[in-house]
Amino acid sequence: MVTSFLGDDKRYADGLVAVFIIRLCAVFMIKNLHAVVICAIDPAHDWKLTMLDLHYCEIRIQDGIACIYLNNPPVNALSEGLRNEIHAVLTHAATDHTIRALVFLTHDLPFSAGADIKEFSGPMKGKFFLDFYQAIEALDKPVIMGIRQYALGGGLEFCMMAHYRIAHRDARLGLPEVKLGLIPGGTGTMSLPRLVGVDAALSMAVSGQPVSAQSALEMGLIDAIAASDLESTCIEFAQKQLDKSEHQWLSPLHRPNPAVPSADYFQKKKAEYDAQFQGFKAPLRLLACIEASTSLPIDAGLRFEQTQFMELITGDDAAGMRYGFFAQRLASHVPGVRLDQALTISQVGVIGGGLMGAGISIALLMKGFSVVCVEADPERVAHCRTGIEQQVAKSVHAGKLTLSDSKSLLARLQVTQSIADVAQCDCVIEAVFEKMSLKLEIFKELDSLCAPHTILASNTSGLDLNTIAAATQRPEKVIGLHFFSPAHVMRLLEIVRGQVTSAETLATGLALAKQLKKIGVVVGVCPGFVGNRMIFKYFSQVVWLLLRGCKPQQIDHAVQQFGFAMGPCAMADMSGLDIWVHANPGERSLIHTLVEAGRCGQKTQAGFYDYTKGKKTPQPSSVADGLITDYARSSAIQPQSFTDAEIVKRLLCALIHEGLHILEEGIVSRASDIDTIYVHGYGFPIYRGGPMFYADQMGLSVLRDQLSHYRSEAEASWSEVPLLDEIIASGKPLHKFQVVSPEQKS
Ligand code: COA
Repeated sequence: MVTSFLGDDKRYADGLVAVFIIRLCAVFMIKNLHAVVICAIDPAHDWKLTMLDLHYCEIRIQDGIACIYLNNPPVNALSEGLRNEIHAVLTHAATDHTIRALVFLTHDLPFSAGADIKEFSGPMKGKFFLDFYQAIEALDKPVIMGIRQYALGGGLEFCMMAHYRIAHRDARLGLPEVKLGLIPGGTGTMSLPRLVGVDAALSMAVSGQPVSAQSALEMGLIDAIAASDLESTCIEFAQKQLDKSEHQWLSPLHRPNPAVPSADYFQKKKAEYDAQFQGFKAPLRLLACIEASTSLPIDAGLRFEQTQFMELITGDDAAGMRYGFFAQRLASHVPGVRLDQALTISQVGVIGGGLMGAGISIALLMKGFSVVCVEADPERVAHCRTGIEQQVAKSVHAGKLTLSDSKSLLARLQVTQSIADVAQCDCVIEAVFEKMSLKLEIFKELDSLCAPHTILASNTSGLDLNTIAAATQRPEKVIGLHFFSPAHVMRLLEIVRGQVTSAETLATGLALAKQLKKIGVVVGVCPGFVGNRMIFKYFSQVVWLLLRGCKPQQIDHAVQQFGFAMGPCAMADMSGLDIWVHANPGERSLIHTLVEAGRCGQKTQAGFYDYTKGKKTPQPSSVADGLITDYARSSAIQPQSFTDAEIVKRLLCALIHEGLHILEEGIVSRASDIDTIYVHGYGFPIYRGGPMFYADQMGLSVLRDQLSHYRSEAEASWSEVPLLDEIIASGKPLHKFQVVSPEQKS
């Protein structure tokens, strides 16, 4: 239905009617085109074509070049609506003789973050990538892609169907599908190797990491870089193509099959991926597709890719990773907290120049903050600075930082012995030893030193933040920022909200996490917060199993087979058994016995395992096994035998059980926050979603029965969880559970 006639100047209206009718007729002849086309001539005599009901694109035609601006904020996900409109434009262009070339662009938005991941959980509807490909095939006109900010996944696949690609110099291009348990399923595994060769295509797609515009140009992925104005560069490029006397527009998909790098190339890669990507399905499917690109004709290759993609997208792994993608982003949406409330932070103080303090300092420096790091021990000041410098040098060596950037980064660092030097900082993060009296002293001092706007943060991994906040006159500005070691590497950041922490302080913590490219999850105050509290419960069941005859290597093997990055015994040895004892002072256990025998873990070359000096590989230890057996005997515990599946079930149930209590107490806003913490901080296999997501896959009634069975063995460890009954009664999945805060209730 035609609802309006566009044209700023009425003088052009009459002359336009004829053109309008002709074009309208053409449009109605195009199958599946839902839009109505209206034409107008603007005062500059340029064609301006607008499709009514085009919500996701805008078109401008000038001198026969149609610029199509994709507009689906925030990231131009290729959702059904946008896909249908792109297809409609492509099919329209085939019959519109005023259009001689097409340039796909964006105004300010990124080119595209790829397929709309939200649509992956239901049946796929509307036009797809193969439809784009066929529509481009049917065009006897050059199609040029102008890539701003990024073209990822399906966004890049769409670009690779086109005849030419031009990227802004700051743009990044990538195929991150493996991070969602998928492969590029929209022609990408066939086009990328044809453009850049098999080896480069494989390493780009298997890492999921985007490449810069410069690298893309060097590898042949794009045809040109726009140094400044992307749009005019694309239009000039299109004009040059039209000016050529010979026209042949060839999609990369029609290039010959790419060459195989060597006779045993794919065999070697398969062996490498089998070892490197244990538990992950997508990398091997990707390899199979890239291999197919070297031998199959294009249509058969595309069908092969489709089959692989469909098998992956309907599987549990992709469901778990997709859930993880949204869970991670949901974590930054905290009820009652808006990110625009965040205060601006530019200079940060870090109290403590040990491993954690230095790691936090590096993380901050890398993202452009100025840092004042306070190390009270005069002998450790130089050590702290050297440690930071060495880490920065490593980044330069690895090509992650230029030498000149590293110099300006270090110029923003001050390492000092005087706490008074943090007086001008916008935020101060305390990262000293886990001793409450020491932390209270430091917070009192900071409170009197710092400006009223300064946020005071503690990196405590489990002490009571409310007690720390109460030591200051600004408890609403006190927050926990629990970094994980090594702090410049690990992405998880538990943001601890005290009883009176303000929304503004929380928003600042969340914004800081985003600036540091970390995954911030807001948690409430309880011993160990979320991650460590759950790991204590998990670890108590590890001890339970050890005392009943399981060997550390059996437990670690079972857990690693499930997909954990590391088994609990090796992990405890790495972090130090003495740390565990320190964190659980009241409770005497097997671990105290090991520590008293000098077995603190890797640091003493003896823990659950033995270690050779300077090496981190755990070796089974007859000494540790003997100590465990003696402890069990003295506690009158009878040995039993357990299968790997029973071990894994018990340990997962321990995590889920504690997670349910955490939800009951309202320590997190939602179940998915627990999963985000576990996947990004504790090595839970990403393709299994997280413990709470896994509970749904187990079946909540099965879980309830299992917990009752464990309770019948040891009531104290497996207390009742009424919340589980409520969730089962509601018929809703646990991983979607949201905590209703008292404010929301009222
Ligand atoms: N489909 C649907 N939604 C998407 C999306 C996609 N492909 N990519 C991003 N989004 C959404 C996010 O969920 C988020 O929504 P929210 O604001 O409601 O939380 C919003 O877009 C912004 O994303 P965010 O990740 O917070 O922004 P960013 O600027 O930090 O990162 C990207 C942007 C594109 C780099 C990042 O979102 C990303 O990697 N997306 C996935 C890309 C991908 O895997 N594409 C292939 C799909 S098969």
